[in-house]
Amino acid sequence: MKVVLITGCSSGIGLSLAVRLASDSSKIFKVYATMRNLAKKERLLESVKGLHRDTLEILQMDVTDRQSIMNAREKVVEKRVDILVCNAGVGLMGPLEIQSLDSMKHILEVNLLGTIQTIQVFLSDMKAQGQGRILVTGSTGGLHGLPFNEVYCASKFAIEGACESLAVLLQHFNIQVSLIECGPVNSDFLVNLQKAELGDESLQQVDGQTLSLYEKYLQHCSMVFQNAAQDTEDIVKVFLEAIHSTKPAFRYFTNSVMPPLTNLKVSEPDGMNYITALSQIIFSDDQ
Ligand SMILES: NC(=O)c1ccc[n+]([C@@H]2O[C@H](COP(=O)([O-])OP(=O)(O)OC[C@H]3O[C@@H](n4cnc5c(N)ncnc54)[C@H](OP(=O)(O)O)[C@@H]3O)[C@@H](O)[C@H]2O)c1
Repeated sequence: MKVVLITGCSSGIGLSLAVRLASDSSKIFKVYATMRNLAKKERLLESVKGLHRDTLEILQMDVTDRQSIMNAREKVVEKRVDILVCNAGVGLMGPLEIQSLDSMKHILEVNLLGTIQTIQVFLSDMKAQGQGRILVTGSTGGLHGLPFNEVYCASKFAIEGACESLAVLLQHFNIQVSLIECGPVNSDFLVNLQKAELGDESLQQVDGQTLSLYEKYLQHCSMVFQNAAQDTEDIVKVFLEAIHSTKPAFRYFTNSVMPPLTNLKVSEPDGMNYITALSQIIFSDDQ
């Protein structure tokens, strides 16, 4: 059996991936679905309908708490993880000037340091095994910037750098690192997101022009989620493609092709075309 450990399984992509792998008809996966708050495990248990006692185990793990990661590692009966999925993440949206240091630290602690320290805890075992897979839920917000998401994008950009650096080294240990780059996904992400709402007291200190641009951004964002968000099952299919591949790629796009904005950024290295295009798309009145 392939031992899989997934972070952030209380909802969204992590939950769907855990259910799909634990339900795999081949029964080749033993899934350790981890979540920071075990009080939320009912949703996952309901989704697997109690059928998968032999392929699913739920463990507590908060990616910001090193001890809880080590405790989870100790509870893996097989004493090895073949496929580590770093998926836990949170968003932060609003004008940069209202973000408190604590909320910015929190995003970086979960998305960046949480991912890195999860990998750290399992890395020595994987190296000693001489094989392993590390899959990370990435974001197109880690490939190109999005206004009002500066800290979220910073955390996801940083993950790209960390994973790419690791991928170069870990090839020598037969460990493959892959990023699954998601655009908008229907999950609890927007519910769990720390977001400044129009009318919030915190926005009173913000200048009028920024507020009006933020209002446009929020409309754009809800339109994008309404029209283009993928379901978690679509994302899981891409995880499965990466998991089953004998020569996994470093980067997978969940829409199968590189999104045009990402493409624009790669093909126009001076950066201005991307910045002008995105500004036009989000803020122009005749979008
Ligand atoms: N949805 C999107 O549009 C989208 C787009 C691109 C990338 N992504 C990425 O996809 C990943 C999964 O998000 P999702 O869309 O499935 O959203 P989600 O439904 O909100 O799931 C996020 C998961 O992360 C968990 N989490 C948060 N802080 C944690 C911590 N300190 N330790 C352990 N787990 C923690 C949450 O647990 P709690 O329930 O306890 O909060 C939840 O299980 C994230 O990395 C996100 O950045 C999402």
